[in-house]
Amino acid sequence: MRVVASSRDEPRLRAVAEMVAPGSTVADVGSGDGRLARMLASRGCTVIATEKTRGQTRRLTTAISGTTVRVVEGFGLRPLRDLCLDVVVISGLGSRSIARILEDAPAALPWSLLLQPMQDPEALAHALRRLNRGVGRARLVRSRSRIYPVLEVPLGLGWNGGPVGRREDLLPWFSDDPLWDAWRDEVLQRGQRAGARASDPGGRWRLHGEDCGPRRDVGHASTSLASKI
Ligand SMILES: C[S@@+](CC[C@H](N)C(=O)[O-])C[C@H]1O[C@@H](n2cnc3c(N)ncnc32)[C@H](O)[C@@H]1O
Repeated sequence: MRVVASSRDEPRLRAVAEMVAPGSTVADVGSGDGRLARMLASRGCTVIATEKTRGQTRRLTTAISGTTVRVVEGFGLRPLRDLCLDVVVISGLGSRSIARILEDAPAALPWSLLLQPMQDPEALAHALRRLNRGVGRARLVRSRSRIYPVLEVPLGLGWNGGPVGRREDLLPWFSDDPLWDAWRDEVLQRGQRAGARASDPGGRWRLHGEDCGPRRDVGHASTSLASKI
């Protein structure tokens, strides 16, 4: 697969890069075309960029040639086992892929993490809860006409979300974000497009305890609004 991040991806990638302290030693797992790795290197970071297959690693090596970024091949966190890193970034993958990568890791994950899931944060909430890792800073970013979450998972912070590890458990970290309302609307629209049925017995959409109106306002959706996020 050839991965090309268009310039429309830049706000998303920049938002991730900005949450890494300049000068950090950082691994960019699933680096794709290496655009984020380049941004991190230009912030004075020492960067290890990974890809999972031989072909993708070769393409990445070509893409970041002329930079200080070091490329390694391997699945998820496996190639990082013995490395001393300030932060591991996993960006632009689905939540389930990120969860698989985290759960495949060596017994303890000895690094801070910066996670930018593309969709379905429920799987991520589950994984973080199982791994007893909590969320520190979090932000939303608009990019390519969508809004994406970015979550910092600092080393030493235990799970600080709700008791079940549902999608809703990730929401408190974003409710003060200026993009919160827009994100909620975007999620509503996605629910409408999905065209599935609502299962909220009260016939109303709820988002993190907030009543968002009668179900008919948003068409037919498969689950509660919160579970669409
Ligand atoms: C959509 S690209 C994202 C690229 C970049 N990180 C970004 O944020 O735009 C996902 C990349 O992750 C790689 N990838 C997926 N699963 C992986 C895994 N388990 N280990 C390493 N790389 C993986 C894919 O090969 C692909 O290049």
